[in-house]
Amino acid sequence: MVVTAEFILILITSYVGVSWGFGLEIGGFNFNLPLIGDGGNGSPSSYAPGPPGLQVGFYEGRCPDRTVDVEALVATTVQEQFRKDPTILPALLRMQFHDCFVHVGIYGCDASILIAGTSSEKNAGANLSVRGYEFIDAVKAALEAECPGIVSCADIIAVATKVAIKLGGGPDYVVQTGRRDGLTSSMDDVDLPSPFIPVSQSISAFRAKNFNAEEMVVLLGCHTVGVAHCEFFQDRLYNDNDQFDPNMDANLRKHLMLACPRGSSASNSVAFLDQNPPSSNKVDNSFFGQIKRNRGILPIDQALARDPNTSATVKQLSLDASIFNIKLASAMIKLQALDVLTGTQGEIRKVCSKFN
Ligand code: HEM
Repeated sequence: MVVTAEFILILITSYVGVSWGFGLEIGGFNFNLPLIGDGGNGSPSSYAPGPPGLQVGFYEGRCPDRTVDVEALVATTVQEQFRKDPTILPALLRMQFHDCFVHVGIYGCDASILIAGTSSEKNAGANLSVRGYEFIDAVKAALEAECPGIVSCADIIAVATKVAIKLGGGPDYVVQTGRRDGLTSSMDDVDLPSPFIPVSQSISAFRAKNFNAEEMVVLLGCHTVGVAHCEFFQDRLYNDNDQFDPNMDANLRKHLMLACPRGSSASNSVAFLDQNPPSSNKVDNSFFGQIKRNRGILPIDQALARDPNTSATVKQLSLDASIFNIKLASAMIKLQALDVLTGTQGEIRKVCSKFN
């Protein structure tokens, strides 16, 4: 399904406080959305000029060779990688979430997760299995060759994630650009929700970032792709454990027990987060059908289908693929704009893993 710029505009206006000028203001940031058509492929063909900040097509005409299309270059690189290894999709999605959600109320999507170093974010426990760093480095190197010092690493993550979502069968939405890269990255700032918390705590964590419970459920629907390691669900399998889940689907339990035998805590085995095999690598609503049938993998995923605060949303999303696509597009736009740096804030890194 193609979610056009105009459609997103209508969608955004329907759920956030909006002030019209040259663009759209959400949470203090200006979004200059296309005024005329989107060329039929989700790419803006025209948009209004506006103040510095996030905007659609921020990089148009900014490279020394003004014809260089930054977003197309990122898209081609993602397409090539996706053909070789479709797991770049879950890798980027998770990286995007962990980058945006990481700081305790300071900065969000600022590529701070990419910084190398023993005490940087990427070495925090919650980030140890985040993947895709080499890919972002490769995209950055290609962009530096064409357009040195112009494109932020934070925007590379955002555009690459958006492209990967579409390649995985998800919505085709318009992502704004103009993010800048953060100047700090500390493992002590990493405060991501644990998969073992109850739904109420997860709702609070998302509310603290201005996402409501429905948006949280939609975003957790990104667990429609990718995998989890045994350590995150093994305790639900065996009945001598506090976290034993007696209601787990019996066939799923058998299958997971083979992958994660009792006591194999150091197991590197993984299970698909969406246990519907034809759809485990697709961005679709099948994850919601699975958790409704007690076939969730992470404790938090399964809890969404059982908690009275979220079960109705899970049911709705499981029944309507297009509603999921539409809501995912708007939740991703909001996530990818979370506490971004723009204008003269931060920097444009030369190498994504190092401050300048
Ligand atoms: C309460 C919120 C969330 C919790 C507790 C959570 C937790 C987890 C855990 C424990 C894993 C497995 C990691 C591993 O075994 O290596 C995982 C994987 C993943 N998460 Fe989440 N997550 C949350 C929200 C999100 C959101 C909002 C997104 C995307 C916007 C997301 C995208 C992913 C993806 C795509 C994977 C698979 C990664 C891969 O295959 O490499 N998660 N998550």
